[in-house]
Amino acid sequence: MSDQPLVLGIETSCDETAVGVVRGRTLLANVISSSVAEHARFGGVVPEIASRAHLEAMTNVITDALSKAKISINDIDAIGVTAGPGLIGALLVGTSAAHGLALALDKPLYGVNHLSAHLSVDALDESKKLSPAIGLLVSGGHSSIIQVNNLVSDVQVLGATIDDAAGEAFDKIARLLELDFPGGPAIDKLAREGDPMSIDFPRGLLQSDFSFSFSGLKTAVSRYLKATPDSKKADVAASFQEAVVDVLLSKALRACAETGIDSLILAGGVAANSRLRAEAERRCQLAKVELRTPPAALCTDNGAMVATLTSLAVSHGVKPSRRGFSTLSTASVSQPIWG
Ligand code: KG4
Ligand code: ZN
Repeated sequence: MSDQPLVLGIETSCDETAVGVVRGRTLLANVISSSVAEHARFGGVVPEIASRAHLEAMTNVITDALSKAKISINDIDAIGVTAGPGLIGALLVGTSAAHGLALALDKPLYGVNHLSAHLSVDALDESKKLSPAIGLLVSGGHSSIIQVNNLVSDVQVLGATIDDAAGEAFDKIARLLELDFPGGPAIDKLAREGDPMSIDFPRGLLQSDFSFSFSGLKTAVSRYLKATPDSKKADVAASFQEAVVDVLLSKALRACAETGIDSLILAGGVAANSRLRAEAERRCQLAKVELRTPPAALCTDNGAMVATLTSLAVSHGVKPSRRGFSTLSTASVSQPIWG
């Protein structure tokens, strides 16, 4: 047997029922069943539908992940599960399944923080040294700049959004542009046909601290569309996207400069955005900052991120979470592993 922990990670905080398997920092399987199509006609995730879909998909997703990893459930050394933040009903399906497995198999169980887990996919490479980094965590629920000193024990929020999350802004603007839900990928695609310099949308709080605000931008786009109904949608999408990307990267790189940390991790669903990734590469090169971008498929919610954070916790000698731990829909990133 390898001395690296074999870990199963379960993620159900939103609309993805996802299970990942890692050994140490090597990915063995990453299986995702999404209920996104069931939410599309409502224009957003419906918590009750998401919870039911998790319940229906859970057993198959676990079985599939074990078979892809070519392991038996008894081989596992530890189980990790997202305990928060997220939709409370959806989280409860995951944590109940994980508790059931841990009890039946008598395996240690770790309740992990979804946000820290997003950042942890950066560690999925045994050859990579784990060093301090600034994390730009941009998802449907969060936009934060995080100082990562140690993924399992020391992460500090330097700034967060004071209104909408970046992904939420993408989803809302997509609705105004009559694009499909979720809006991020739809805007990303449409923006490729537009001119990002055509409309000068506002960059909220650009010069202030590390907090973000996207509500002014949302209002500006809405007003622009009302005032100019014949505008080219691709130009609006590209200019909106450019404003978001500009603010996110300006602040993230300022955080690198002010802390003297010369590595930047992009994480969360919005980190799958092609313009954000390309512009991050350009600006990081100019600023001499090492850019660490996970593959796009590991940016959106997945089980591999939960398994990776759990595996790091096991390797660092962190104690398993107390059995029966509670889920927390509004957990802060500063507690990576539940006590
Ligand atoms: O991390 P994630 O999968 O779930 C949360 O934890 O929220 O992020 C989902 C968000 C959605 O708002 C979605 O529109 C956005 O990530 N997203 C994108 C892209 N792919 C997903 N935003 C911009 N460009 C993309 N390519
Ligand atoms: Zn997420």
